[in-house]
Amino acid sequence: MKTLTENGLTAAALARLAKAPNPRMKEIMTSLIRHMHGFVRETGLTPAEWKTGIEFLTAVGHITDDKRQEFILLSDTLGVSAMVDLVRHRRLGHGTDSSLLGPFYRNGAPEQPLGASIAGDTPGETLVLRGQVTDAHGRPLADALLDVWQAGPNGKYDIQEEHLTGMNLRGRFRTGADGRYEFRSVKPKSYPVPDDGPVGVLLRAQGRHPYRPAHIHFIVTAEGYEPLITALYIAGDSYIESDAVFGAKQSLTVGYHKSRAANGKSERAPDAIEFDFTLSAAAGQPSSRRPRSVRPARPAAPSRQSPRRRHAV
Ligand code: BEZ
Ligand code: FE
Repeated sequence: MKTLTENGLTAAALARLAKAPNPRMKEIMTSLIRHMHGFVRETGLTPAEWKTGIEFLTAVGHITDDKRQEFILLSDTLGVSAMVDLVRHRRLGHGTDSSLLGPFYRNGAPEQPLGASIAGDTPGETLVLRGQVTDAHGRPLADALLDVWQAGPNGKYDIQEEHLTGMNLRGRFRTGADGRYEFRSVKPKSYPVPDDGPVGVLLRAQGRHPYRPAHIHFIVTAEGYEPLITALYIAGDSYIESDAVFGAKQSLTVGYHKSRAANGKSERAPDAIEFDFTLSAAAGQPSSRRPRSVRPARPAAPSRQSPRRRHAV
């Protein structure tokens, strides 16, 4: 039996993949083994440090349950989720930039008429959101569905509020024949990602804060197009340049605009965000949609993510 050198060990581990039946699995494992062996060699990782790493991952597993997903949070705070998004976007080629889904999405938000508010009686400054959903050629997409959710002015999502049982600050809106949407809400605020578990420990050990800049999440779907999971970020937020999960992007950063004043009314109109979303054609679909007279089916549950914008800052 030959004694393995550092390089020989990597080669031996890779050779064990020779009979992997799934070629994609083999490709991924090959790269993972190469990078992990390289990481140990590059850092000169000691057995005690590796044990600390294993204990950390064990703690991440222990705190994870059906309500809390610490592994996704770890992936988010290390920028891995954002990297997966960027790579997917590179493959799709065009369309509005995507951003992280995050752990606070809830399926089944009520569908509301255009112009309605998702804020219920949430205290806060009223905000109007409006714009258009188009294809990559700028053609309006009628009947596109926008599923929106956000934290309130106190930085909390409805599921984090003990006194709330139903949904709040969530809603779904369908674009009209001109592809346009409009709804009301309240201005969001920056908030910390859950930092009372092992990921919080790791953030502090890196000298990092846990905050996300104020944002509003969107999933935009239309039949024949890739679902777009994204968010709009508020310009000027203190954390816009240091988002704890690397989701904020220049192309998704928007400022507040003074809304068009209603005729004859003297009171100040609420501030507005105007943003147009561009959807990429689904794989295997032509870049434009089938006839407009066909009403799309309800979209399926979102998968992970998908530049045309108007008023990004
Ligand atoms: C969010 O924006 O809801 C979020 C995203 C990633 C981690 C935690 C929260
Ligand atoms: Fe969020």
